[in-house]
Amino acid sequence: MTYMTIRAAIVGPTSYTGLELIKLLLSHERIELTYLASGREQLPNIAEEFPGLIGRCEMVCRPIDAAAIGREADVVFVCLPHVAAMQHVPALLDAGLRVVDLSADYRIEDPARYASVYGHDHEDTENLADAVYGLPELFRRHIEGATLVANPGCYPTAAALAAAPLLQRSLVRDGTIVVNAASGVTGAGRGAKPHLHFPEVAEGFTAYNVGLHRHQPEIEQTLSRVKGRETTVLFVPHLLPINRGILETLYLEPADDQINEDELFTAFEDAYDEEPFIRVRNDLPNVRDVRDTNFCDMTVRLAQGRIIVFSAIDNLIKGASGQAVQNMNLMFGLDETEGLM
Ligand SMILES: NC(=O)c1ccc[n+]([C@@H]2O[C@H](COP(=O)([O-])OP(=O)(O)OC[C@H]3O[C@@H](n4cnc5c(N)ncnc54)[C@H](OP(=O)(O)O)[C@@H]3O)[C@@H](O)[C@H]2O)c1
Repeated sequence: MTYMTIRAAIVGPTSYTGLELIKLLLSHERIELTYLASGREQLPNIAEEFPGLIGRCEMVCRPIDAAAIGREADVVFVCLPHVAAMQHVPALLDAGLRVVDLSADYRIEDPARYASVYGHDHEDTENLADAVYGLPELFRRHIEGATLVANPGCYPTAAALAAAPLLQRSLVRDGTIVVNAASGVTGAGRGAKPHLHFPEVAEGFTAYNVGLHRHQPEIEQTLSRVKGRETTVLFVPHLLPINRGILETLYLEPADDQINEDELFTAFEDAYDEEPFIRVRNDLPNVRDVRDTNFCDMTVRLAQGRIIVFSAIDNLIKGASGQAVQNMNLMFGLDETEGLM
């Protein structure tokens, strides 16, 4: 049997998601990592930036030159902040690359909505129209063969996977879905920010951006698509003083007061029976169990007349770089689990 080797590049490899991608791609049998592209003037050796890579990957970063990347790679992962990403994606596509963008730039379908949420006009509406939202468990067939995949946000991944089985089966009443969420500090990226310094975060626990977080419209967009009707969400994020991991708790009203917990559990098992990365558990999920994995662990409870769904992911893996590799596998017709199990 002949195996195809896919040449991969990363734009923004000095990021947290970039580091996770490098580690995942090094262990992916079908991938050759050929190009690390950085916007820095002083281009770093990636192993000096991340000493954990010494002896594993000691590539020197090169400039973000779309034509050069296009000559040396088949797929490029873009690990830049929003706005910066869409300034590079058009040239990368023009250079013939398949693109998995980890930023928010191609996730919100409506450019006017993007502008109101991100405070910046969309600069690449042409490619936005063709971008595919890369949540494989819900939109797999759209991802297969796609050229530009918008990799979902970390919080939206955990929320959409938790609510989808109930919405698909019309098991919940119309009304705002409450999503209570907590994320480890890497969710905010590697850049230095005073409120994320160790003494500010350690031993504390607080909510932030209540009802205002940029992921709320993304969650609403996905759930509206799943349900086929406008769906609203109240999203309450918290900063959890751990490095990585997201736990979300969703509160929903049952459509039928007579439904019992076993029937709800069966709905989740039916929905995700065939999914390699979703583990429907009897017990309550813990971020510790999904750390460094592409799994989403979840379960459901019925209490005080409310449906409560719990989901846990690693924000940097299923919430970012692992899901990006899962999407790349689908885009190139590989086994979806390659490099991820
Ligand atoms: N962290 C998560 O859990 C997570 C989850 C899902 C999605 N995402 C998204 O994935 C993307 C990367 O996130 P991250 O947390 O890994 O980021 P990060 O650690 O903050 O790193 C950002 C990267 O972008 C580079 N960069 C920043 N501005 C740039 C510019 N104008 N031109 C060129 N390069 C620039 C930085 O380079 P320097 O090192 O030179 O500054 C760095 O490599 C973001 O859009 C983020 O929203 C993150």
